[in-house]
Amino acid sequence: MPDQWMVIVTGPRLIEELRRFPDDTSSFYDAASDLFELDTSFGPDLKEDPFHVALLRGQLTRNLGNMFPNMMNEMKQTFDDLLPVHGDGWIRTPLLVPVIQKLVARVSNYAFVGYPMCRHDKYLELAIKHSDHIAWTRKLLIMFPRPLKYLVARFARRTRNNVLEGQKILLPLIQERIRIVKNNDKDNAPQDVLQYITEAALSKNKGIEGISRSIFATNWAAIHTSSSTFVYALLDLAAHPDYASEMREEVERVIGEEGWTKDAMTKLWKVDSFMRESLRLNGMSAVSMFRKTRKPVVFSNGVRIPAGTILVAAARDTHMDEEYYPDPHTFDPWRSYRKRVNSEREVEGELYSSYSPTHLHFGLGKHAWYDPHVNYLRKILSRK
Ligand code: HEM
Repeated sequence: MPDQWMVIVTGPRLIEELRRFPDDTSSFYDAASDLFELDTSFGPDLKEDPFHVALLRGQLTRNLGNMFPNMMNEMKQTFDDLLPVHGDGWIRTPLLVPVIQKLVARVSNYAFVGYPMCRHDKYLELAIKHSDHIAWTRKLLIMFPRPLKYLVARFARRTRNNVLEGQKILLPLIQERIRIVKNNDKDNAPQDVLQYITEAALSKNKGIEGISRSIFATNWAAIHTSSSTFVYALLDLAAHPDYASEMREEVERVIGEEGWTKDAMTKLWKVDSFMRESLRLNGMSAVSMFRKTRKPVVFSNGVRIPAGTILVAAARDTHMDEEYYPDPHTFDPWRSYRKRVNSEREVEGELYSSYSPTHLHFGLGKHAWYDPHVNYLRKILSRK
């Protein structure tokens, strides 16, 4: 990178070692802050106290089962509104990416800010654009040495202005959520991310700006990652239409027996395997697991990395290694399906949303994520 070196860690053994370094030795937030200029464009708050992350991992994840039926209804309505199917079942959509981004933003925001805000066009537009603004700010600031970045960032305000504009739209909703927390009005407290964030923010004396910044940070993490994964899966489906009927048969059988429940989703093995293969060949980034060393570290092969170095894992290289993925250039959607079927017990590491040193799309270790939005493909396969 023009403004700093990056060391790429290759091979599962060393990647596993990278995973094991503790946060005070190799920090995810220091790396994210450098790579996306979070400090300069958001202020240090997001790096120093990313309190929303624990809420997403904890409260949101625990509550997804309860939210599931309503989210699926919102997903169905969103598909009907944005990709309506008429007559022979075919539709023409010239701009797939913006449509899918809006679809993902709307359904995600059902869980983030609830209905009806999740359908607010201007708010969704700002949530989607946020990521582009962060990328734009990064591209600009990368050209300046660190001391100058802060000066330039005072004028490069796209990211901050985006949050402030979004905050104006969210303001009445945030005020209502603050009222609920202050009055301890548990009966009227919605179960969504905005409510969790408001509760936590007030206990930390963070104001309205802190709340809306966390909501936008959540959107930043969720929208582009999930929408690009979904777009690639659709393109793979278009390139290999024969697989659609096999997956459609699976979706119809499982959903016919169990309905659209969270448990039923775990039984769609072929869809899961297809998504995983699509992600393997089209992963968003060639590298994963960003970390910045706070102390010198030494790998078992003797390589010593000084403090202040960005370390990343070689994701694409691993996903294309024939030792772990035979015939790696071939799109083989049933790779992990076969392993699961042929194994006597559940092979956790073969799931779309699992992590391992040879499946790095969602990172690895303490900061690894998973994508609950695999359901988009399931839903689209169930359409007639
Ligand atoms: C296909 C979809 C997604 C992909 C490929 C993806 C990928 C990743 C990766 C690679 C990391 C860094 C992990 C590490 O360095 O070990 C990460 C972190 C994170 N992701 Fe995602 N993600 C996806 C969806 C989402 C969604 C839907 C959300 C929000 C609901 C989200 C929220 C986050 C957050 C908050 C972090 C930071 C975790 C931490 O600080 O510990 N991601 N994601």
